[in-house]
Amino acid sequence: MCGIVGYVGDKQAADFLTEGLSKLEYRGYDSAGIAVYDGEKIRVEKCVGRLAALRDKIKDDVPQGTIGIGHTRWATHGRPSDVNAHPHTDCSGDFVVVHNGIIENYLTLKEELIEKGHAFKSETDTEVVAHLLEEVYNGDFEESVREVLRRIEGSYSLVFMCRQHPDELICTKQDNPLVIGLGDGENFIASDIPAIISRTRRTYILNDGEMAVVKKDSIVITNRKGELVTKKVFEVNWNAEAAEKGGFEHFMLKEIHEQPKAVRDTMSQRVAKDGKSIVMDELKWTADYLNDFNKIYIVACGTAYHAGLVGKYYIEKLARIPVEVDIASEFRYRDPIIDEKTMLIVVSQSGETSDTLAALKESKRRGAKTLALTNVVGSSIAREADQVLYTWAGPEIAVASTKAYTTQLILFFMLSLYMAEILGTLPKERIAELVAELQKVPAQISETLSDVEPIKTFAKQYGFNEDVFYIGRSLDYDVALEGALKLKEISYIHAEAYAAGELKHGTLALIVEGVPVIALATQKSVYEKTLSNIKEVKARDAVVIGIAAEGDDELEKYVDHVMKVPETDELLIPILAVVPLQLLAYYAAITRGCDVDKPRNLAKSVTVE
Ligand code: M6R
Repeated sequence: MCGIVGYVGDKQAADFLTEGLSKLEYRGYDSAGIAVYDGEKIRVEKCVGRLAALRDKIKDDVPQGTIGIGHTRWATHGRPSDVNAHPHTDCSGDFVVVHNGIIENYLTLKEELIEKGHAFKSETDTEVVAHLLEEVYNGDFEESVREVLRRIEGSYSLVFMCRQHPDELICTKQDNPLVIGLGDGENFIASDIPAIISRTRRTYILNDGEMAVVKKDSIVITNRKGELVTKKVFEVNWNAEAAEKGGFEHFMLKEIHEQPKAVRDTMSQRVAKDGKSIVMDELKWTADYLNDFNKIYIVACGTAYHAGLVGKYYIEKLARIPVEVDIASEFRYRDPIIDEKTMLIVVSQSGETSDTLAALKESKRRGAKTLALTNVVGSSIAREADQVLYTWAGPEIAVASTKAYTTQLILFFMLSLYMAEILGTLPKERIAELVAELQKVPAQISETLSDVEPIKTFAKQYGFNEDVFYIGRSLDYDVALEGALKLKEISYIHAEAYAAGELKHGTLALIVEGVPVIALATQKSVYEKTLSNIKEVKARDAVVIGIAAEGDDELEKYVDHVMKVPETDELLIPILAVVPLQLLAYYAAITRGCDVDKPRNLAKSVTVE
């Protein structure tokens, strides 16, 4: 999730590049850079920090030239630093590239290129693309880029510059957005429309596998085979604010819809080539290492804590190591039993949450080995922990966490399978079966997102004015907690989640006619038990909306409405079942006219106690 821009025309490129990047900072803001051809060479200026730092750096000596590219980064491979900032160059500085996405086979390519004498400067996956272009360059820029594309695997939008071809930019995309803005005697490239909207509303939206050679007065688009593609001009009619949200009304809705990609990115490079097991190059754990631990603590706040609850279930079920989950603000003050035999896993989207960071520091002081699951490379938590696993969800702007949660679940699931294989707690065939199911999840989330109309209707129909109860057993209970939190924080409706079996120990007293109950019944192992609890609330005339897996024809007999999610292994269903709950909260908040992205009293990152 980075921002990309490109310019070719008669005007000073740096003006558009910095202006365009300023509109893309919501996509990444840990470093920024531009490259401009100055008539002799391609001059690259880049630095860590927000775009303001780059502007400051070049203010007295702005690169001069009428063709260039720029980038604002959200780190994945390599921490935020000057050297890891884009654009990246080859050894000679003649080939320059900006990239959004992940080059999955970069390590193999890097080794090959180093053997051939290429000297790398950064820790990024992107730099291999520049060196690879240098390696294969045969005088034909376009053909050489095609050769690079044949060799790289992964997801990308890329823009290339070459000193030997100073009047053209080449761009292409795979699973990441890229648009070309059509100007008069000038053309623009951007990862997203907001970057170009002040200059032109006439665009070409590139499809996967398409490649464009962009000059100031021509744009030639071809497909993977090199055949010409005729494209229709897409006239952008959104305003700048809507464009920033990708046409969605709110960042939260955009981020909910980004989940298939976020989940796919988080999985990428972590599934073995044969698709049968999980690889975690970041960890390189052994059975001896794992057998040394007698306990794992998972510590986090809010949504990340809810992800930790699912993580506990996964680790205990699959890897058979005892796990305790704690709220960070409690954990840090409750004198937990921690020593060298303790593993502490902290979970944090931002990597900056004060209580989680304090719990991490305290546990380290007492001798625990620490692992962070976070979304922000170079964050305080990432730097403090002994080891880190990143969720590659991209920046999450809305206060309500959505794609961070689903990617945290994915990471916990993969981590548990990884541990299970090392410890031999699960047969290889079962691991392979679960990895196969896991890989279907992105498409299943897309399927869940494909019809939001019934959810909108429920949100309107029931108004959800006072109290809403969420119930479920086992993993359904963990998801219920997250569903209730979503509704509370953005719609200000009182919502509580209960383990369905606990109702009769008190809460059932609150269930009266018309009270909305969201009942999750996706877990086959406790299905009948959940059904009896649902009957208990139905007998008190609650209005029950059930969440079930496709193929379940039973639940609808006992509830008022059912929302279905695709059928998968019951371990993976939480990643799907949370999606309708996120949407329900979103549409309930909209119905009530709430400020969805910035709910009252809340901040995105809680850096104070
Ligand atoms: O950045 P973190 O994941 O550490 O943040 C933890 C919580 O503050 C966060 O999940 C919060 O609960 C969200 N607003 C929930 O949507």
